[in-house]
Amino acid sequence: MKQSTRDADGPAPGADAPPTLGDRVEVLLHWHLVPRVVHAVRRLKNRLQGNHSRATIPVQWPDSPLRIDLLNEIVARRNVQSYLEIGCRDDDCFSQIQAPHRVGVDPVSGGTVRATSDEFFANNTERFDLIFVDGLHLYEQVLEDIRNSLAALQPGGAIVLHDCLPTNCVAQYRQQSSREWNGDVWRAIVAARTWPEVDTVTCLIDQGVSVIRARTNGDPLDLPESDAFTMPFAQLAADYQRLMRTVDYPTGVQFAVGDGT
Ligand SMILES: C[S@@+](CC[C@H](N)C(=O)[O-])C[C@H]1O[C@@H](n2cnc3c(N)ncnc32)[C@H](O)[C@@H]1O
Repeated sequence: MKQSTRDADGPAPGADAPPTLGDRVEVLLHWHLVPRVVHAVRRLKNRLQGNHSRATIPVQWPDSPLRIDLLNEIVARRNVQSYLEIGCRDDDCFSQIQAPHRVGVDPVSGGTVRATSDEFFANNTERFDLIFVDGLHLYEQVLEDIRNSLAALQPGGAIVLHDCLPTNCVAQYRQQSSREWNGDVWRAIVAARTWPEVDTVTCLIDQGVSVIRARTNGDPLDLPESDAFTMPFAQLAADYQRLMRTVDYPTGVQFAVGDGT
């Protein structure tokens, strides 16, 4: 029997029908108005809780190079064979990485493994030459991802992290409160900057791209690791070059591919 392609509400999902006015209103509400209202409420909540600062970080992000350029530069110059990406979303980055063996982990979409990073690392036995951490943008999760990545890194490998340098306070609230959201990834970078056994810089490209190498820390921060979680954004803004050890792109590439500091 020929199946009907329509149900009571109109064309079946996937049918080639033009969107109705109702469809357009639903999309507008779902993707534009509701997130804006939710973000505005969250911004208000943060202000009322005294979490807000008007400080800003005066960095203009160049259109290029981007994280993908840095990753592929490392792939080419270190002859990277195995690449792991944590958080893949639409595979914008994952699909462009030139490594012969790629594993992408995301609980929602993209990549090759449908799992959270914790679930993945709990069962993983592989070692990777290059690991890109861009999953859940919360301090404690990023710290966990860094620790697990260090354990899964080939000797001489590099860990790269995205969204490390928010330029305003709202972008780093722990709940997404604006379209551009970095979360408090920066706190995990400040924490890692206190560890003696890893060396870290932050490249001034693409929302701040940090690179971590498993070698003696060439410029350790002299503060307790726990300060990273309580530090106000205004302190980051006042001292971001030292706290994040910011570098330009060529220096970041050299740091990521070289053997020394
Ligand atoms: C910013 S997007 C990744 C963008 C991608 N890396 C790129 O450069 O185009 C963050 C992704 O992390 C995923 N994610 C959220 N929580 C995660 C977790 N616990 N472990 C791994 N991925 C997670 C989300 O589903 C989302 O797709």
